[in-house]
Amino acid sequence: MTQHIKGFSKLTKEEKIDWIANAYFVNPTEAKQIVTQYWNSNETLQKLHDEFIENTITNFYLPYGVAPNFNINGKSYTVPMAIEESSVVAAASKAAKFWGERGGFKATVINTEKIGQVHFLFQGAFEKLETFFNTIKPQFFADTQNATKNMQKRGGGILDIQLKNKTHELPNYYQLHATFNTKDSMGANFINTCLEQFAKTLENEAHDYEAFTETEKNIQVIMSILSNYVPNCVVRAEVSCPVDQMSEDANINPREFAEKFVTAVNIAEIEPYRAVTHNKGIMNGIDAVVLATGNDFRAVEAGVHAYASQSGQYRSLSHAKIENDIFTFWIEVPLALGTIGGLTSLHPLVKFSLQMLGNPSAEELMQIVAVTGLAQNFAAVRSLTTTGIQQGHMKMHINNILNQHQATKEEKIKVLDYFKNTTISHSLVVDYLENLRQ
Ligand code: MEV
Repeated sequence: MTQHIKGFSKLTKEEKIDWIANAYFVNPTEAKQIVTQYWNSNETLQKLHDEFIENTITNFYLPYGVAPNFNINGKSYTVPMAIEESSVVAAASKAAKFWGERGGFKATVINTEKIGQVHFLFQGAFEKLETFFNTIKPQFFADTQNATKNMQKRGGGILDIQLKNKTHELPNYYQLHATFNTKDSMGANFINTCLEQFAKTLENEAHDYEAFTETEKNIQVIMSILSNYVPNCVVRAEVSCPVDQMSEDANINPREFAEKFVTAVNIAEIEPYRAVTHNKGIMNGIDAVVLATGNDFRAVEAGVHAYASQSGQYRSLSHAKIENDIFTFWIEVPLALGTIGGLTSLHPLVKFSLQMLGNPSAEELMQIVAVTGLAQNFAAVRSLTTTGIQQGHMKMHINNILNQHQATKEEKIKVLDYFKNTTISHSLVVDYLENLRQ
């Protein structure tokens, strides 16, 4: 049965929960209890969270962990990670320690350009539109001065605006393709404000442009929006060491491991099925830091995967090689991040994360995030090419299974002890626990 309601957004939070509990739950009292137990008793803090979005009824917790011992460009960091998947934080920490003992991570920001577009229709000759565009181009800058003043003070602003002819792909379709530097802010609001002004300027100027016919004067703006594809906002992170230092385990030959590792990365470069999972491992690290620092992980995800496909095939974001007995592993990722604006000054835990990272600039945060992605990728591919992923994974997962089955402290000790040296699977753990209980 579908439930319909009018004016839901106007209800108070309690009324919203009442309606949901009664409409969808066999036991409304229990449903209400589940939702309200996540309310924060600090009313100011709760109100802050309620107001981040619309129709808020409760908070949805994610664990917040930290990975210490990251050495990036000679500076030490403890990296905040918000993520629900077990073993990710442990893997990042292990990789940080491993590479910390081998000179640490090197990271460089390659460029920081962001893009926004005004998509519009024009019925007329391109040459005429081009002349018009070149004539009015200074007006785009003049009309956005209010929005750009502060950004310019910080060294950012509009870099360029170009006219693009897309009529070979869609009739009458053109773009204003603008590039921006938004310094330490992610810049979505700034870019969209500028673009919407460009759109107005475009329409108004066209209207008054005497060389245009009546049809040509009627430029139709379809939309104005930033692009989350940021192939010119890229950071590179890298690790390297002599091949003979590649193993900490007496049972693992360092050269064999290094070669196997490089092959595994090469597979992800040419095989899309593997590349997606390989990159997912990278995103385990990237998303966790992006979330903990209050950035938009959907934007980052969308941009990263588009970048991974820029050759026309989806490929690995990381690369590895052995040259002159030196193993090198690196990543290049587009990351549009901010350390001011947005949630960064609103969410207390975001402020905490940024402070723990030493209040980095956006460029420094790009480096930290890329490094975490590379570390995560290193840990995953190392497990995959040596012990297999399940060993470490299931050990961490065992705790989740035990919690799901409300294991007592004593039961946990017994189960963890038993599975220390034996194969772990969900059903084996559950069977063992049930046997214990009989
Ligand atoms: C699991 O969350 C991530 C991995 O699948 C990544 C990979 O396969 O490289 C382990």
